[in-house]
Amino acid sequence: TAPLRVGLLGLGTVGQGVIRVLRTNADEITRRVGRAVVVTHASARDPHRARDVSLDGIQIVADPIRIAAEADVDVVVEAIGGLSPAKELVLAALRRGKPVVTANKALLALQGNEIFEAAQASGVMIAFEASVAGGIPAIKAIREGLAGNRIEALAGIINGTCNYILTQMSEKGQAFADALADAQRLGYAEADPTFDVEGIDAAHKLTILASIAFGMPLSFDKVSVEGITKVTPQDIRIAQALGYRIKHLGIAKRTDAGVELRAHATLVPEDRLLAKVDGVLNTVLLQGNAVGQIGLYGRGAGGDATASAVVADLVDVARALGSDARHHVPSLAFQPSAVRELNVLPLA
Ligand code: NDP
Ligand code: HSE
Repeated sequence: TAPLRVGLLGLGTVGQGVIRVLRTNADEITRRVGRAVVVTHASARDPHRARDVSLDGIQIVADPIRIAAEADVDVVVEAIGGLSPAKELVLAALRRGKPVVTANKALLALQGNEIFEAAQASGVMIAFEASVAGGIPAIKAIREGLAGNRIEALAGIINGTCNYILTQMSEKGQAFADALADAQRLGYAEADPTFDVEGIDAAHKLTILASIAFGMPLSFDKVSVEGITKVTPQDIRIAQALGYRIKHLGIAKRTDAGVELRAHATLVPEDRLLAKVDGVLNTVLLQGNAVGQIGLYGRGAGGDATASAVVADLVDVARALGSDARHHVPSLAFQPSAVRELNVLPLA
């Protein structure tokens, strides 16, 4: 069978991770889907810059729209980030009937309702496991694993950069700015790290998780958001002396009055699971009415961990394209017609 040809938009931390993981695990992936999955085309802002992975065998294309619209590509991976040109490229691919895999939580949280409609209208799959919590398969766990439940609440550490900074400040006494610089060097932070440290990235992810968990439209503007920039070393010391850790959490909860959506720094008692999740690790705790509480834990950022989720989506695409029922792997957790506006409690 002919290989699945991947067109890769973006050769940064995530894009290079995708090339690496597809190569390293080529045998496993081929055994899973019955055909090879290979990056045939790629683009970046600077098409001439040398990368940390070999680009042998990959056609570097200067204009990314050529990849989205390229006839020789079966699936498009968007790993550019931001709203534009990512949105135009994703829509161009979907409208041409090409499945899309994206890691772009900002794009989905802000423009996802329109993008999912475009995917539905074209009957094409859009997959976005990497958009939330890096390598943790949180979307698949909610959409597939917990599909028998009414989900009551979710909470978690969903920004690796914030957790890394808070851990470095509390365990190593490192200054905020130095810890942030390390997180950037390690490939954890967003291109604009303000999104991480001001809680916006966590709010993007919470928006996606809540939509998938509760069957509500993406509602980023209703999330109450605070970051970690005001957390001082003294706050951390006092919290520790009182038996707490300071963690940046995303929380979505059904209440009788409506849904609560918030992302902010929180005092967590030191004996709780969340208090022990350190560094770039993320965790997502979910409360389902049948299963009770479950927890997912793993690397929330970084090239290979995020590529693990992107490649899992590529495997879904390959399986869907190879099956009789094309595109049968769901993109969304609820039928689009069943997605309801839920009353979201006013910002605190
Ligand atoms: P990087 O900044 O490392 O990479 C972005 C890539 O996109 C670069 O190769 C850049 O080109 C290219 N690019 C940027 N702007 C344009 C443009 N206008 N046209 C064409 N190409 C462009 O980002 P990441 O890899 O870290 O992140 C990519 C996406 O994945 C983002 O949506 C991010 O939120 C998401 N994500 C990131 C994670 C991580 O741990 N880093 C984890 C989960 C999701 P050039 O290299 O030439 O500058
Ligand atoms: N900047 C993000 C983080 C990347 O630190 O969690 C993973 O989504």
